[in-house]
Amino acid sequence: MGWNSWNKFACNVDEKLIREVADALVASGLRDAGYTYLNLDDCWQGERDAQGFIQPDAKRFPSGMKALADYVHGKGLKFGIYSDAGSQTCGGRPGSRGYEFQDAQQYAAWGVDYLKYDWCNTEGLKAEGAYKTITAALRKAGRPMVLSICEWGSDEPWKWGPAVGQLWRTTGDIYNCFDCTKNNGSWKAFGTMQIMDKQAQLRPYAGPGHWNDPDMLEVGNGMSASEDRAHFTMWCMMAAPLILGNDLRQMSEATKATLTNREVLAIDQDPLGVQGYRYAAKDSLETWLKPLAGGKWAVAFLNRSHRPQPMRFDWQATPITDELSKATLDARQTTYRLRNPWAGQAAGTTKKPFAATVPAHDVVVLMLSK
Ligand code: DGJ
Repeated sequence: MGWNSWNKFACNVDEKLIREVADALVASGLRDAGYTYLNLDDCWQGERDAQGFIQPDAKRFPSGMKALADYVHGKGLKFGIYSDAGSQTCGGRPGSRGYEFQDAQQYAAWGVDYLKYDWCNTEGLKAEGAYKTITAALRKAGRPMVLSICEWGSDEPWKWGPAVGQLWRTTGDIYNCFDCTKNNGSWKAFGTMQIMDKQAQLRPYAGPGHWNDPDMLEVGNGMSASEDRAHFTMWCMMAAPLILGNDLRQMSEATKATLTNREVLAIDQDPLGVQGYRYAAKDSLETWLKPLAGGKWAVAFLNRSHRPQPMRFDWQATPITDELSKATLDARQTTYRLRNPWAGQAAGTTKKPFAATVPAHDVVVLMLSK
């Protein structure tokens, strides 16, 4: 859990922004809710020095990266940085190709805790090998760092990623649209729901310490409150890394409330680490299930359509078994208590069918416990 500069600020990053975001993570309570990584994305790089060590852009980061990392650490946060396996980053800054060991050494000297490693300008490289090289470099540098694999799912990173890093992107970039795709020239950008559809097929590959990454959050970046809630909930149902992408310095109370709902965050952070799955889908109304530790379950009724939809779920109708985790939800044998974490209310038990109307582009979520 953390924050990253890209979704909102793209290449417009400097040390003032990062310090202000560090302050905001603390003042808003987001750090204490668990968002502890502050990750600087593309465009921080300047030139390499005479020995080949990468330096930050001196105009944007005049105090240097060590000072910035110290500031971030001083706030009780961890500091993340970005590079690219190719000759240049996607933003045209120096990439790590040919400098992997020196770059890892430099990041370790600065006190970096997390590296997102991108995949632009990598002609002739194979993803698995290139990511293994940076893993070896980070190990040699001797400072533990999370490695975020960012090759957009092109070389099936879910198959080799667990031995190489802790999370891997599964698609191209997210943008702040609920249920649409956009072609940016040859680059395809995905709405939140399309990413979720792709992610759904990959659940066997996720687990503690090695996660499918459906990209960073767009909550607070222009979608409606219900779309933000649905997007956030589904990322939690998918046990996704939760990397915020909005301007924390001017966030609405509604956005903050969405991002800090402790009960919904607990779905994401559940120690079992099982990615949720789509149990049923009809008329753009989907039922998603996520088995949780201690025999609990999270259930999300997601309405992808433009109109409110009534729904009814009869827990007694049939026992449910998750084929992957073998967890069972058998309401005939066990009575579960229901709780609605967005409403912050109890919602009866599984003795009776649950009925609700799910607003357009929104979710109704229930937590089931014995
Ligand atoms: C592509 C990645 O997918 C984005 O998340 C971002 O890191 C940009 N590159 C930066 O150029």
